[in-house]
Amino acid sequence: MSSSNESIQKTVTVALLLCLVCSVVVSASAVILRPAQAVNEQANMQMNILQAAGLYDPKQTVQEQFELVSTRLVNLETGEFVEGMDADGYDQRKAAKDPSMNRVLSGEEDIALIKRQAKVAKIYLIESGGNIEKIILPIHGYGLWSTLYGFMALEGDANTVAGLGFYEHAETPGLGGEVDNPNWKAQWAGKQVYDGDAVALRLVKGGADRSDSYGVDGLSGATITSRGVDNLVKFWMSEAGFKPFLDNVKQGRI
Ligand SMILES: Cc1cc2nc3c(=O)[nH]c(=O)nc-3n(C[C@H](O)[C@H](O)[C@H](O)COP(=O)(O)O)c2cc1C
Repeated sequence: MSSSNESIQKTVTVALLLCLVCSVVVSASAVILRPAQAVNEQANMQMNILQAAGLYDPKQTVQEQFELVSTRLVNLETGEFVEGMDADGYDQRKAAKDPSMNRVLSGEEDIALIKRQAKVAKIYLIESGGNIEKIILPIHGYGLWSTLYGFMALEGDANTVAGLGFYEHAETPGLGGEVDNPNWKAQWAGKQVYDGDAVALRLVKGGADRSDSYGVDGLSGATITSRGVDNLVKFWMSEAGFKPFLDNVKQGRI
């Protein structure tokens, strides 16, 4: 190798060119792959929604199955549908961070430890012949290490649980991470949310009695995550959450 090829100037030039080429490749990949990534993210969310409702069939495409689902926006305070806003484009998690679209929760009502809540929620309905068959509601709240984000599905009576699942959390695998265990999730279907007007659905430390229509087993070795799930379910089913909307459904106002 000639000594002229080892000059500092040439080494720096080659390094800079390499950096430039790499950054162009990385940026171009990010831009080119972004639409595909967005489609995959949407399909993944739709799969979670269908799974929470117990409707996901791996033999069919998510898109096909999601055609049964209508996406609606609900004003949490009045429990009425919000018209004139793009439901598909609405991002409830973003809205929860926007002071013009959120509500700051008082310490007393914030049992799910989420601090602020979007005033408008994005929900999913499955209807047939003008009747609501399933209601799928976004829920979230703090566990031990993380905020758990998921969906709770109810039957058309707005009281019987059809299913529950979390699509994002950072609880410990084998402990709080057992929220993803299919056997634990299977316990939710058929449970009742309300006893009269009060939220009676709850997690029971040490295990719920099989005949208890409101009780689901707490997660063993994960009391703190279990308490988080218990609190977030109570919060989202309460007056501060979806109760005004669910009351409207029960009374046929929706
Ligand atoms: C490394 C580590 C990870 C843990 N992860 C969790 C968790 O994800 N969720 C949880 O509730 N408890 C977790 N715990 C246990 C809690 O610290 C606490 O002991 C537990 O919630 C008490 O539950 P128990 O009364 O059912 O034993 C973890 C503990 C350790 C040491």
